[in-house]
Amino acid sequence: MKPVVIAMPGNERLVDQLADHLALERVAAIVQRFPDGESHVRVEASIEDRHALIVCTLDRPDDKLVPLLLLSCAVREAGARSVGLVAPYLAYMRQDTRFKPGETISAQHIGAWISRHVDWLVTVDPHLHRIADLSQVYSIPSRVVHAADSVARWVRSQVRQPLLIGPDEESAQWVGAVAQRANAPFIVLTKHRRGDRDVEVSVPDVEHWQTHTPVLVDDIVSTARTMIETVGHLRRAGLAAPVCVGVHAVFAQTAFKDLRAAGASEIVSCDTIEHPSNRIALAPAIAASVRELLP
Ligand code: R5P
Repeated sequence: MKPVVIAMPGNERLVDQLADHLALERVAAIVQRFPDGESHVRVEASIEDRHALIVCTLDRPDDKLVPLLLLSCAVREAGARSVGLVAPYLAYMRQDTRFKPGETISAQHIGAWISRHVDWLVTVDPHLHRIADLSQVYSIPSRVVHAADSVARWVRSQVRQPLLIGPDEESAQWVGAVAQRANAPFIVLTKHRRGDRDVEVSVPDVEHWQTHTPVLVDDIVSTARTMIETVGHLRRAGLAAPVCVGVHAVFAQTAFKDLRAAGASEIVSCDTIEHPSNRIALAPAIAASVRELLP
């Protein structure tokens, strides 16, 4: 019997793509809110003895986690043999240490909650910084899809003479990987974040890159302050208007508009979170990782 794939609301496009790539059967689920704000979920088909996977990207996670965990319970109680999760964007990976006394390390708790409810996990470039490997916070089998190949392919085909730029030390890992695959030079800047929207970025000597097109690459664009600061510095240093590439287009509140206004020539993202900036499709890479974990 074919495995079944279930979309949490908003994830239907990726579900269709995975169903096509992996010959899965789409099964509908109702995910609603009662008038008092509590979640109500129901699996709408018989899935007895079938392997199942739920697709739910986890931007704006507080609205999604309760219904997702309830849906995983409903799927199991409906008789599924196993339940996997495809979460192209994995939230809560940035609170990966106790920055101030009294805080908690959210990444560990969210990882433990999700690990208790599903049997395996596939995600795309989770924010691995102080946590070096997903297995430190997820106790279930997992696969990480890297966007570097797809981003590099886009850069190679769309940008003339690119100079790849990582806005901070953390970005060195993915900007280096993209640069190598795009056969382009790269530099990494230094970032000081003083608050959610207070970011300072230092730019090394960039004069000899005047003939290149700067391409900023970061894993997450949330408030976009990191990219906005960097765009400002590069423009003041006389470089061309930069192309901004984010793997995960979180774009909180007015961030997208603000980044455009700051002078980005183009804003591009992978399709891990549906957004008008999506240009880089990752379904084939996600499907390849799902194939490795789906029993
Ligand atoms: C930092 O740890 C991440 O890699 C990104 O640089 C960061 O999340 C970007 O955040 P924002 O868009 O709010 O500056």
